[in-house]
Amino acid sequence: MADYYVLFLKNVLVVSLAMNMGLIWRMRYEDEENLTPSWGNMLHLHGSGLYAQKNSRIQEEEEEEEEAHASKKTHILTTTLSSAAPDGLESVVINLDHGDPTMYEEFWKQKGEETTVVTSSWQHISYFSDVNNVCWFLEPGLVSAITALHRTVGNAVTEGRHIVVGTGSSQLYQAALYALSPVDGPGPMNVVSAAPFYSSYPLMTDYLKSELHKWAGDAYKFNKEEPYIELVTSPNNPDGFTRQDVVKGDKGILIHDLAYYWPQYTPILSPADYDIMLFTVSKSTGHAGSRIGWAVVKDREIAKKMTTFIEINTIGVSKESQIRAAKILQAVSDGCIHHNRKEAETNFFDYSYKLMAERWKRIREAVNKTTLFSLPSFPQETCSFSGRTFGQLPAFAWLKCEGEIDDCESFLRRHKVITRSGKHFGASMKYVRVSMLSRESEFKLLTERLPAIKT
Ligand SMILES: Cc1ncc(COP(=O)(O)O)c(C=O)c1O
Repeated sequence: MADYYVLFLKNVLVVSLAMNMGLIWRMRYEDEENLTPSWGNMLHLHGSGLYAQKNSRIQEEEEEEEEAHASKKTHILTTTLSSAAPDGLESVVINLDHGDPTMYEEFWKQKGEETTVVTSSWQHISYFSDVNNVCWFLEPGLVSAITALHRTVGNAVTEGRHIVVGTGSSQLYQAALYALSPVDGPGPMNVVSAAPFYSSYPLMTDYLKSELHKWAGDAYKFNKEEPYIELVTSPNNPDGFTRQDVVKGDKGILIHDLAYYWPQYTPILSPADYDIMLFTVSKSTGHAGSRIGWAVVKDREIAKKMTTFIEINTIGVSKESQIRAAKILQAVSDGCIHHNRKEAETNFFDYSYKLMAERWKRIREAVNKTTLFSLPSFPQETCSFSGRTFGQLPAFAWLKCEGEIDDCESFLRRHKVITRSGKHFGASMKYVRVSMLSRESEFKLLTERLPAIKT
C-alpha cells in the first residue's frame, strides 16, 4: 500500500512539474514585452498543485531541456525555501523578473494585531466615501494617513493639493494620461520617458490603441514641435537614479512617478512639489496586493478629470483596500514618531533602509567577485528624514553583463536566474533588471549564484 502511494505521488509530481516547466519556458519575452502571460505564469507557479503545497512550494521536474541539459533536474524557487532541493541548490530557478515586494513580509508579520483590519458585512456598502471631495470615492481615513505620512517623511507637499486614489498607481497613470490629453487635439498626445524607462509605460499607454495618446519613446530622442507628456520617474525604475525632465520643451506636461521616493531607497532631499505626483503602497510599504496608489495633484480640474477616468473605468476603488492601506500608512507614520521604543521593530523605514543597505552590500560583494557583471554606483547624499548619508539603494539592480555577453537575460536564464532584459526598458540587451525585493531565500541564492557563474 505504501509503495502504491509513493508511486501515485511520483506520477502526480511528474505531471504537475511537466506543466510548470512548460509555463516557465513560455515566460520568455517575445519582441514586445507582454506582462499578462508573465503575471499569469507567476500565478500558476505559486499555486501549482499538490507538490507545491506539500513541499514548501519548490516545484521539480524531470525536464527534457534543449541541448546539453537534457534530463537534468530543475527546481523552481517561487516563494520561500524551507527545504533544499534534493540534488543541490544550483538547479533551483530564481525568478527575479517582477518587483514583487515580498521582502517586507517579515516586518509586517511582527506587527500582528496593530495593522490587522476587520470589516463587517454591513460596512463599506456604498459606492461613495465623501461626496464633498473632488475624488468622491476616496476614504477620509486614507487622506489623513497619506498626508500624515508625507508630512512625517517630508517627501511631498500635500497642503492645498488634491488627492486621487487609484487601483494601484498604474490606474492613476492611465487616469493622468486621460486627463492631460485633449479630446480635440490634432492627433494623439505624445508620451515620452527617458530611457531606460519603466517597461510598463509603453504597454499601458498603447494598450487600448487610444486616439488620445500614443507612446513616443525615449524622451532624449524626442524632437518634435508637438505637445507631449513626459514621465519622470525618480528614483528611476529600472536603474535607480534620481531624475529630472529631459525634453525641456514649452509644449510639455510632466507626470512625476515617485513610487520609489521613500527613505529606504533614496535619501529624501526635499518635499517634492510637482503638478502631478504618483505614489503607491506597492513600493512604499510593500503592499502590492492591496492595489492602492494615490496621486497628489495641484490643479483641481486635472484631479476632477482623473477622478472621472476612474469613475468610468472601475466606479471607484475598493473601500476595503483603502481602509487597509490607511491603517498601514498610519502605523508607518506612528512608528516613525515612536521609533525609540525597543520592544519590536517599530520604524518601518528604519527596518527597510537597513535591509536594503544590507542587500546592496551583499549584491555588490557578489558582483565584485566576478568580472562578468557590473552595477551602477550612486553619489552619496544626506537624507533629511533619517539624517543618514548614503547613495541610492534601488528596488532593482540594473545589472550589466560585461565583455562578449550581448544578451544578458538569456545568459542568466541559462544559469537559471530569470530577470528582465534591458530591451524592455528601451535600453541595451547587455543590461537586465533584477528585483532586490524578493524574500531572503531567493536573494541569498542570487548572491551565491552570481559569483559562481563562469561562462
Ligand atoms: C515606477 C513605477 N510606477 C508604478 C508602478 C506600479 O505600481 P502599482 O502596483 O501601484 O500599480 C511600479 C511598479 O513596479 C513602478 O515601478
